[in-house]
Amino acid sequence: MMNYGIKIVTTALILMGVFSCKNENESNKEVSSESARSITAYDEPFRPQFHFSPPEKWMNDPNGLVYHQGVYHLFYQYYPEDIVWGPMHWGHATSTDMIHWENKPIALYPDEHGLIFSGSAVVDKNNTSGFGTGDNLPLVAVFTYHLMEGEKAGRKDFQTQGIAYSLDNGESWTKYKGNPVIGNEGIKDFRDPKVFWHEESSKWIMALVAGDHAKFYSSDNLKEWDLLSEFGKDKGAHGGVWECPDLFKLKVDESEEEKWVLLISINPGAPNGGSGTQYFVGDFNGTTFTTDQEQTKWLDYGMDNYAGVTYNNVPDGRRIFIGWMSNWNYARDTPTKAWRSSMTLPRTLTLHKSDEGYYLKNFPLSEFDRISKGKVLFPKPVALDEPFQREFENLNRTELKFLADPNENYAITYSNSEGEQLCFQLLGESSELLLDRTRSGIVDFEDSFGGAIQKQPYSPEGDKIRVRIIMDASSVEVFIDGGKHVFTNQIFPTKPYTKLEISGPADGSLEYLMLREVNSIWNTKK
Ligand code: FRU
Repeated sequence: MMNYGIKIVTTALILMGVFSCKNENESNKEVSSESARSITAYDEPFRPQFHFSPPEKWMNDPNGLVYHQGVYHLFYQYYPEDIVWGPMHWGHATSTDMIHWENKPIALYPDEHGLIFSGSAVVDKNNTSGFGTGDNLPLVAVFTYHLMEGEKAGRKDFQTQGIAYSLDNGESWTKYKGNPVIGNEGIKDFRDPKVFWHEESSKWIMALVAGDHAKFYSSDNLKEWDLLSEFGKDKGAHGGVWECPDLFKLKVDESEEEKWVLLISINPGAPNGGSGTQYFVGDFNGTTFTTDQEQTKWLDYGMDNYAGVTYNNVPDGRRIFIGWMSNWNYARDTPTKAWRSSMTLPRTLTLHKSDEGYYLKNFPLSEFDRISKGKVLFPKPVALDEPFQREFENLNRTELKFLADPNENYAITYSNSEGEQLCFQLLGESSELLLDRTRSGIVDFEDSFGGAIQKQPYSPEGDKIRVRIIMDASSVEVFIDGGKHVFTNQIFPTKPYTKLEISGPADGSLEYLMLREVNSIWNTKK
């Protein structure tokens, strides 16, 4: 858990400074988003070109992921005064296509109950809260209040749960006068409410974490909550505090079976160090979550996919996930100047079942293909009697795909003129995947960032291994077999990688090798 030592924020000033440029020809709404965008050209060193990052300053967890009236909302933990963690607000961005993002004014500010920590948002379709008027249904945000005074005084009850509503699809928010809606009876880490509508019981369900376990609550109106049950004291990984739960139903891809999935972020205690996300597959009967799962399962073995949660109310039923692409081990130390950190690509979560039991895949939304626009460079199989080697102008805005033999060994290396390199290895012979960023660029800002080669066990799905590597200015996302195995990592090469080398068995080949340039999503029209 982080140290919440901080200075007090002057929110009014920030609002004025950032969002005050007026253009008389435009409406207020357009002015505020236009001026938010004009803070930056999104072209600084390391600035992601097709991942969401805030225009400036500190960001951590995605919050309030909800779709409403054609708009995907992305709220996020935001400190608008510095590039290190500070008093938390909810920053806000929207998208209509899950590719391009529009920066919006800050949605939620700290108040007398505390800072605004992580949480979720729902569309209150039946106006159960009574916050709506006539046909206008409210968006309701449910979040944790963190009261610094309480923490500083050494009390344990400083985290409570609050709500706020919006009647203009997220443009402006009103806090509920009866906050907090869930008080605290002395649980030190008591936070990150994820709320969803449970059809079967016609109730709102909330998953909340309480240190080393999850608690479930139900409500008829989002204001009064009843404790239902607890889960997890003796299940899964417990190397650190549990954070950012999410609970949802998914159909098993290969059958008609439906299961419930519980995501739990944990910090520290991830398989390659620091922060990571584990999951449980089981059943939820409206009151309790149960699972037979013995093994700890991880969504991603990279070091930079944390606090990820999924969207409520997605129209086509996909389970869309976004994670924070950082790690509390070094989140405050990464070498960016104007802003800190970005989100993963939005990904679809799917559930599968094999001899290994149930498992989740996470894979970029198909919408991403619209900006991966370059030509397929090598459509024919490429023989590997010699390592495949090519120079490119800039590999830090590309997508690479190929098929290979799951029983053989391969190494894929991206490098630049400075001798910096990122290497991914498929070790079919020992059933392992390795990601080596130890010499990937700037790595010395914290020991664990480049301290060790990351590993994950590999079990092939078919007779070909499907490799996809998506590289932005300061990240690399590796997806194997459609997201069964994933490594998400930040990288900070001082110059873009320009050389790609792939080596493998001398009598082998790479099929459907494809390298594409990815468009920037910033400062470009759709
Ligand atoms: C996870 C987390 C949450 C908390 C938020 C505070 O990264 O620690 O548990 O609500 O960040 O910013």
